[in-house]
Order: sequence, then C-alpha cells, then structure tokens
Amino acid sequence: MPYKTLPKAELHMHIEGSFEPELMFQIAERNDIQLPYESVEALKEKYDFNNLQEFLDIYYQGCAVLITEQDFYDLAWAYLLKAKEDNVVHTEIFFDPQSHTDRGIAFDTVINGFHRAFEDGQQQLGISYRIIACFLRHLPEQAGFDVYPDIVRHKDKIIGVGLDSSEVGHPPEKYQRLFAQAKKDGFKIVAHAGEEGPAEYVWQALDLLDVDRIDHGNRCLDDAELVNTIVDKDLALTVCPLSNLKLCVVDDLKNHPIKIMLDNGLKATINSDDPAYFGGYINDNFAQLQSAVNLSDDEIKALIRNSFEASFLSDEEKAKHLSALA
Ligand code: HPA
Ligand code: ZN
Repeated sequence: MPYKTLPKAELHMHIEGSFEPELMFQIAERNDIQLPYESVEALKEKYDFNNLQEFLDIYYQGCAVLITEQDFYDLAWAYLLKAKEDNVVHTEIFFDPQSHTDRGIAFDTVINGFHRAFEDGQQQLGISYRIIACFLRHLPEQAGFDVYPDIVRHKDKIIGVGLDSSEVGHPPEKYQRLFAQAKKDGFKIVAHAGEEGPAEYVWQALDLLDVDRIDHGNRCLDDAELVNTIVDKDLALTVCPLSNLKLCVVDDLKNHPIKIMLDNGLKATINSDDPAYFGGYINDNFAQLQSAVNLSDDEIKALIRNSFEASFLSDEEKAKHLSALA
C-alpha cells in the first residue's frame, strides 16, 4: 500500500472544510455561539448531501463560529496534525475570505491565524505550505474586487487566487476582469471547474481565466478536444474522489473516472477537498479509491508524483521531493 507511507502533496483542501464537528462545538462554546444542533451526532446526521449546494449550506453555517485569530489557528493546526499522520509533506490550502469578512471578521484576523498555524506546521511538523484565497462565485464580481485589496496587502502570505462555491449558473466568465487583475499582479490562478458545471466552464477557466491548475475538472471528459488541450498545456486536475462520491458527482466510487483521466494523459492528483464533511483525509481518499477501482502501485505513484509536479513549489523543491519518490 505505497500511498500510506509515501510522502505526498495535497493541492485541493478548503481549510474551512477540515472543521471537525467536535472542534466546531468546542469553538462555538467558547465564543458563546449556539449551533442549531443538539450534539455532534445530530450535526453529523446532516452530512448526507445530494449536491454541492446542500453541502455548501452546512459548510457556511460551520464557518460562522470562527471569530478570533486563535479560532483560525486551531482549525488549521487540527488539519496539519491529520496531514502529518497521512505523510503529507506539502499542502496548498484554500480559504474563503468573504465567508468571514461578510460576517464582520477582519481579513487580518483570518489570514494571521491561518498563517501562524502553517508557519508552526512548517517548523514543528516539517510540512511546507502555500495559501490560496478563493472568491465565492455565487457573489457578484464586484464583491471579489472589494476584498481583493486585502489579498494584495497579504501577498507575502498568499500565493494565488481561486474560485469556489456554487458552480452552476456562475461560469468563470463572470470573474474574468478580477482574475486578469490577479494574474497581472503575479498571483497564481486556479478555479473549480467541471465539478457540477459543464465542459464549457472548463474551457472558460482555460481561455478566460488563464488558470495554472483546474480544481476537479471531471466534466472535461465530456469533450475530447478539451482533454487534448488540457494535456497539451500540461495543466493538472486536482481530483477529489470522496467529495465526488458525497456530492453525487459520481454515483459509486467504482465508476470514478480516475483511470480514464490517467489513461488520457491528464495530470490528475488526489485530494480531500473538505475532509471533515466527506468522510476522510487524503489517505482515506487513496484507500477507498484503490479498493473501488483497483489502482496499481504504479498508478498510485504517478498520482503522487503529479501532486509535486503540479504544486506551486520551486523547481528545486519539486526535484527534491520527486527524487525522494524515485
Ligand atoms: N466545491 C465548490 N466550492 C467549495 C467546495 C467544493 O467542494 N468546498 C468548499 N467550497
Ligand atoms: Zn473544492
């Protein structure tokens, strides 16, 4: 089972999606906030989603108990301990600034808490990191422009910008001016595309946002020309198997298209997306996918190699990680 012990990178993980219910109740209590559930068990019973929106409604509700810099620190630290157990040596995480600033939490409170935790993670756990700020696509582009100056102000801590939240009805084209500005300012660009939305949204992520990586991207498989274009551009897909199962993007893990992606030459990687909500961290994703589609050791190694190659590490750092895998 090489995935367990091999060092790996995770490239698609929403830090707010690693909020375990036990910690959520603990933080709610210390902030004197009443969650609308009686217990951890009652909350977990809600984790039965038919689509992305049903998940997002619960996820944003969870975010609302995060108030102080220490709350954001504790959330990130809890994830880092899980990542360490799974032999993650590099992680590139998303956070959703607007889901906090819209509640009146200062941007600095959020980023400083996360940043301090990831710095400690690097020092104490040996896990390197990059932070990506995502825009909520269900909000107008102007709302993204409103928060953007804060992202620029913290450019020393934030490597890139992404696009997440409700996909269908919010195509990448809605955000092209904002992403053009971010590109001009030197940020890396990623976007969720083709999770629930059609192949056309993936084309837009390529052509209008000029992405450096595609988050999910499953629906590109509907369009052979798109697959060839993604392969030619050497763009990676950050695939999230347990998320795909829990949000009904696939009906059964046995039908997950990971092998089709690899067979087509797509640079697929394995990631946990929102592990506290979807039933597992990165090694659980490898474990369940492997038993569902019978991944070979070579395929697992290729997925892990891809995770470093597709990361935003320097060429020297990538080479170091890749040689450790050889
Ligand atoms: N998809 C889109 N937006 C998100 C997700 C996701 O899985 N998790 C948090 N925001
Ligand atoms: Zn995601």
